[in-house]
Amino acid sequence: MKFFLDTADLDEIREAASLGILDGVTTNPTLIRKAGARDFHEHIYQICELVEGDVSAEVTATDYEGMLREARELARIHERVVVKIPLIAEGIRAIKTLTEEGIRTNCTLCFSPTQALVAAKAGATYISPFAGRLDDVSSDGMHVIEQVVKIYRNYGFKTQVLAASLRHPMHVLQAALMGADVATMPFSVMMQLLKHPLTDVGLERFLKDWEAYLQAKQGVQ
Ligand code: E4P
Repeated sequence: MKFFLDTADLDEIREAASLGILDGVTTNPTLIRKAGARDFHEHIYQICELVEGDVSAEVTATDYEGMLREARELARIHERVVVKIPLIAEGIRAIKTLTEEGIRTNCTLCFSPTQALVAAKAGATYISPFAGRLDDVSSDGMHVIEQVVKIYRNYGFKTQVLAASLRHPMHVLQAALMGADVATMPFSVMMQLLKHPLTDVGLERFLKDWEAYLQAKQGVQ
């Protein structure tokens, strides 16, 4: 499973990349705003230079021609850029054309398996079902991801399932068990994944015992 960071914060990306487990980054207009990016394209370029993997950058046009124009500009920024296109009819048309042009896409704002089926038929590189936002409205977000994985396997679609809007480690665990190709998550969730209180307690005990052992050895000499 690939780990993507769902952020536009350069410090977070730098830190996650330094762990050696970062496979990519997803951004959206909200995250770009949160990061206080001065220049959108320049900011995306900087992210691409920090991570060895795909970097999603989203269009803001909602019409076919506008999306194509923005997507082509975004794709020119860096070879790692994957263009995020919203899952609306114009977006599906745009994904089809961009795929034919060799521009990779991440079909975003997916909330149902049938939407995901349409995106795969258009040739999207990634589909992003938003689990957390479905949970927020009393739906089962992870069940949608499970259904998308199954449908894609049934028909051998190449589109990769990018589990998005993941809010906690259990979301990541469930996505992994379901066989999602990618999990994109906030920096805090990535750090939570590697934490366990018994690891901390165990390490403290080992270090204390080691200290005691060294002291005892010194006493013997
Ligand atoms: C991913 O590509 C989305 O931008 C993101 O996961 C949305 O997450 P949120 O629902 O926590 O804003």
